[in-house]
Amino acid sequence: MEMPATDVPESLVTALRNARNIAVLTGSGISAESGVPTFRDAQTGLWARYDPMELATPEAFERDPRLVWEWYAWRRELVEKAAPNPGHEALAELESRVPDFELLTQNVDGLHRRAGSRNVIELHGNIMRSKCSVEDVLVEPREDDTGVPPSCPGCGAFLRPDVVWFGEILPAGALEKAFDAARDCDVFFSIGTSGLVQPAASLAFEAMRQGAVVVEVNPDDTPLTRHAEYALRGSAGEVLPALVRVAYG
Ligand code: OAD
Repeated sequence: MEMPATDVPESLVTALRNARNIAVLTGSGISAESGVPTFRDAQTGLWARYDPMELATPEAFERDPRLVWEWYAWRRELVEKAAPNPGHEALAELESRVPDFELLTQNVDGLHRRAGSRNVIELHGNIMRSKCSVEDVLVEPREDDTGVPPSCPGCGAFLRPDVVWFGEILPAGALEKAFDAARDCDVFFSIGTSGLVQPAASLAFEAMRQGAVVVEVNPDDTPLTRHAEYALRGSAGEVLPALVRVAYG
């Protein structure tokens, strides 16, 4: 079901049309309609009994590298099979409508770039890349390496996905760029994120402090909802295309 055009507040349409600079933060909710489960959703099948919060940590990898690698291999397969949905596509369209646009994503699935977004900052890395768990450099696994996990061709240590785990710091420069984008924008969107994980969760508040219009898109309440100027209830795949259509026709 599409969001009716009448549900898009006129004042928001005006704010979008006047905006010179838009920043967007996305979380796993935007990829839900592409069939990639959100981070905190119940896992399915074989993985149902594992808590992602206990797999996405350096300690889990230390304890059981095989288990963690296999979990990511499963998620990687889901991502490979998935395609960008109308929510991703609407954001790529939005980027073409404003002079300055920055897309900050906590997602590791690369679907924004596949949808055509260009200015994307991947705050939590990208699941399709691997890196050496010791040297912290990007590595292509050797084709004949059947290890689980495979090993670094340079030093022999295990490879791991190039994603940020709980307790790890964000990629160099990514956070600074994200805060700059939040400070400089006229309109800030928070889309499909529960807003529970710092530091990404504070970006909307930083934007608000600097006077930006903050818009949340989420079917459920989050800690941001009561502070946002607009809380658009619904799925990203319905709300975002409607918003772009109404604002830019
Ligand atoms: P969560 O799983 O915490 O939250 C997903 C959010 O998406 C929830 O608020 C849902 O209500 C919302 N949602 C679900 N379906 C939606 C839809 N169709 N359209 C719009 N919103 C929808 O995922 P994140 O907020 O992304 O970090 O989690 C943030 C970070 O927590 C992840 O990047 C990951 C995890 O720790 C690391 O791994 C470091």
